[in-house]
Amino acid sequence: MRAIVFDRFGGPEVLRVAQMEPPRPGPGQVRLRVRAAGVNPLDHKIRDGAMQAVFPTSFPATPGLEAAGVVDEVGPGVAGLAVGDEVLALTDTGAYAEYALATVAARKPAEIDWDEAAALPVAGETAHRVLDLLAVGAGETLLVHGAAGAVGSLAAQLARARGAVVVGTASPRNHDYLRSLGVVPVTYGDGLVDRVREVAPQGVDAVLDAAGHGALPDSVALREGTTDRIVTIADPDAAQLGVTFSSGGRPTGELLAEIARAAVAGLLRITIAGRYPLDGASTAQARSATGHTRGKLVLRL
Ligand SMILES: NC(=O)c1ccc[n+]([C@@H]2O[C@H](COP(=O)([O-])OP(=O)(O)OC[C@H]3O[C@@H](n4cnc5c(N)ncnc54)[C@H](OP(=O)(O)O)[C@@H]3O)[C@@H](O)[C@H]2O)c1
Repeated sequence: MRAIVFDRFGGPEVLRVAQMEPPRPGPGQVRLRVRAAGVNPLDHKIRDGAMQAVFPTSFPATPGLEAAGVVDEVGPGVAGLAVGDEVLALTDTGAYAEYALATVAARKPAEIDWDEAAALPVAGETAHRVLDLLAVGAGETLLVHGAAGAVGSLAAQLARARGAVVVGTASPRNHDYLRSLGVVPVTYGDGLVDRVREVAPQGVDAVLDAAGHGALPDSVALREGTTDRIVTIADPDAAQLGVTFSSGGRPTGELLAEIARAAVAGLLRITIAGRYPLDGASTAQARSATGHTRGKLVLRL
C-alpha cells in the first residue's frame, strides 16, 4: 500500500510516500480501505518531535489519527461491523495510508461525505468530552477561545444545541463564519476581557480554551477569579494556573455514531478548509501548522 512515512523528527519535508505492507487486524480491530484522512495539529507536533514525552513515536512512523473508509477485513471479536461497511474511525495505525486499523469505528451515514466523516472523529470526541467536563447547560454562557478551529467550532455548535449562549474568539475574517454557527464573535488579543464583557454583560459561566494561545489569565478574570469551569485542551501553562487540561478521552464507536447522527441532523457542521492528495501531506501539515485553518484539512486517498 501507499502510505506517508517519516524516519526522523523535523519539518514537513521529512514526510515521504512509501510502499508498505498493509497492516492486518488483530482482536477487536477492523481494517479500512481509507478514502479520506483528517489532518490534526497533533500530527505536525508529533512529526517535529514536540510530543515525544506524551506520544512516543518509533520510526518509520505514519501520521494520522482519524479516517473514513470501507471495512475490508474484520479481526476476531468485532461485533456490529462487517466487510463492506462504510465507517468513520479513530485509527490505531497511521491514517495517512491506503489501509489503516481501527478499534473505535462507527457506520458512516450516507448523508455525510468521506471528507466530513474523516474530519469529525478527533474534533467531535474532544468537543463532546470538554462540554461534558464543563457541564454546559441551557441558558448558560460559554466562551470558546479558537471558535473557528475544528474543535472550537464543533464545541460551539454542541453548546448551542444544548441551549447555551456561545461567545467565540477568532480573527475578524472569521466573524461572519462564527455568526453563521450562531456564535457571538469577539476578536482575540489585548482588551479581550472588556470586549467579552460588552457582548456578555450577564457574565461567563464556562470557558473552553481550544486555542492555547495564552488566554487563560483573561479567562480566570472573566470567571471572576475562579478557575472553576475553565478547561483548556492546548495551553501548556494550565497546571501552573490551576486550570484543568483535558486530553485523551475514552472514545467509543457509539460516541462516533452519535457525532455522525448530530451532523446528519444539522446540529454539527464541519467546514472542510482544504483537500489534498496523499502526496500533498507535507503541504497540508504546513498549512495546519499556521494555526489559522477554518475547520478542517483532509487528505483524499
Ligand atoms: N487535548 C486534546 O484532547 C486535544 C484534542 C484535539 C486538539 N487539541 C489541540 O487543540 C488545539 C486546537 O485544535 P484544532 O484541531 O481545533 O486546531 P485548528 O483547527 O488548527 O485551529 C485553528 C483555529 O485557531 C484559531 N486561532 C489561532 N490563533 C488564535 C488565538 N490567539 N486565539 C483564538 N483563536 C485562535 C484560528 O482562528 P483565526 O484564523 O481566526 O486566527 C483557527 O480558526 C491544537 O493545539 C490541538 O493540538 C487538543
